[in-house]
Amino acid sequence: MPAPPPSAATLPLDAQGIHALAARSMFELFSSVSQGMFLIDRAGRVVWVNEGYQRFLPALGFASLDEFLGRMVEDVIPGTRMRRVLESGKPELIDLLTNKAGTFVVSRIPLRSEGGEVMGAIGMVFFDHPETTLRPLISKFAQLQRELDDARQALAAQRLAGRGGTGERQRRARYTFASFIGSSPAAAEVKRQARRAAQSASPVLLLGETGTGKELLAHAIHAASARADGPFVSVNIAAVPETLLEAEFFGVAPGAYTGADRRGREGRFRLADGGTLFLDEIGDMPLHVQAKLLRALQEGEIEPLGSNRLLPFDVRVVAATSRDLHAMVQAGQFREDLFYRLHVLPIRVPPLRERPGDIPALVEALYEDLLLRSGVEPPELLPDALALLAGQSWRGNIRELRNVLEQVAMRSDSPRIGAAQLAQVLRETGVEPAAPLAPAPRPGPGRQDEEALLLRPLAEQVAELEHRAIGAALRRHGGNRLATARALGISRAKLYARLAENPDLQVDN
Ligand SMILES: Nc1ncnc2c1ncn2[C@@H]1O[C@H](COP(=O)(O)OP(=O)(O)OP(=O)(O)O)[C@@H](O)[C@H]1O
Ligand SMILES: [Mg+2]
Repeated sequence: MPAPPPSAATLPLDAQGIHALAARSMFELFSSVSQGMFLIDRAGRVVWVNEGYQRFLPALGFASLDEFLGRMVEDVIPGTRMRRVLESGKPELIDLLTNKAGTFVVSRIPLRSEGGEVMGAIGMVFFDHPETTLRPLISKFAQLQRELDDARQALAAQRLAGRGGTGERQRRARYTFASFIGSSPAAAEVKRQARRAAQSASPVLLLGETGTGKELLAHAIHAASARADGPFVSVNIAAVPETLLEAEFFGVAPGAYTGADRRGREGRFRLADGGTLFLDEIGDMPLHVQAKLLRALQEGEIEPLGSNRLLPFDVRVVAATSRDLHAMVQAGQFREDLFYRLHVLPIRVPPLRERPGDIPALVEALYEDLLLRSGVEPPELLPDALALLAGQSWRGNIRELRNVLEQVAMRSDSPRIGAAQLAQVLRETGVEPAAPLAPAPRPGPGRQDEEALLLRPLAEQVAELEHRAIGAALRRHGGNRLATARALGISRAKLYARLAENPDLQVDN
């Protein structure tokens, strides 16, 4: 028998009466101070929603209460932990919940029968108003959440880069201009243009065949720019499925999707904030994403998917493609307005066949790299072998040259190889050898070129010399850093600093 209701003046003194009074008062208190309350049954179905809660329904994607009631709670409230409360029977007095309706302070309390059995749970939402005193806490939470997501992404990218993955790269430049080997007039010119571009804030468009070093130059431009301390973020457009491109670029607002991504995700534009965004294979961008990209570049703002907020960003764009963008514009496959937006500082990266004079230096650099990576000493190439290399058309450019040299290192057991053996390797790797280019000058530049080279900034020349010296010493000492530093008469600290600046010199381990 329930206790008789207390009169206005008298407090009940029996346990049941106190309980009933306290329960009613607390319920009323919660329903007046909370922004909303709802109830789920033992199965996790939403069975009741108070008036306050109903105003969240549109933000959660429901036009009417009828659509909301009777559904499983996790299907209608992204990110909720109500089911856990049902299962554990333990209340969660204060929690922060972020979903597409916003970030809220929430409370979840199990409801028990007289026998103590969990019959359902009540959920309460407090403080959704931005002007409440909890605002600093909520924004700190959101900020930490974003930082955590960034850190996770960066970690994933690093792991991928460590495995040689192509989709994501570490968020720092891996190459400098010193890594772009070549002193032929064509190579010197492309480096000059790229250096000049590094000084400017305008978009850069790198155009050139596959394997010519566009990505390497993009890193180098970033490293030589005023943004060098900022992130270098790259997106290989050809490698991202079309349906994911927008999310990749612009990010996803928290709660835009249910499931794994419900916390939201930063887009590349925001990750590159303060740094450089490298848009690799820009020619592969679908037209509808081109329109959004153009708008972002024009406005300096992006709108994450599922959000109606515009977020500012500050990035310098470097784009690259091996496709003929001009022809694509004419064929209606690439937006003309975007083309002109990106075409401010176009740089044509020459194919290897236009700079055969660089082949000996490239062979040397690629050999150094091979030795450091695999520990195998590649055979010396005799002059007629170098001349043969210089005569090839190298459709895959430097990447192809690198492959051929790897094959040479793996297949030959003599310390020196000449043209005949090299031709054999070329055939075995699928290159029908063209006539040699005779004679292969060694070392490359003629007198005029040499003078032009000596008139470059001294710091650059010194850096190049250092790079070569360190590479040669490392090679001589089998990658042993202590021996290398001793041989060059420099401190180990200085060697480590140079290795950090020139990751291409480092031994992978
Ligand atoms: N001038 C150079 N000196 C030394 N190595 C180079 C040079 N150019 C390119 N490479 C090397 O050749 C390979 C291909 O270069 P990169 O990836 O930059 O080419 P890409 O133009 O971006 O090619 P793709 O269009 O196929 O993506 C890389 O391993 C790079 O380090
Ligand atoms: Mg590339």
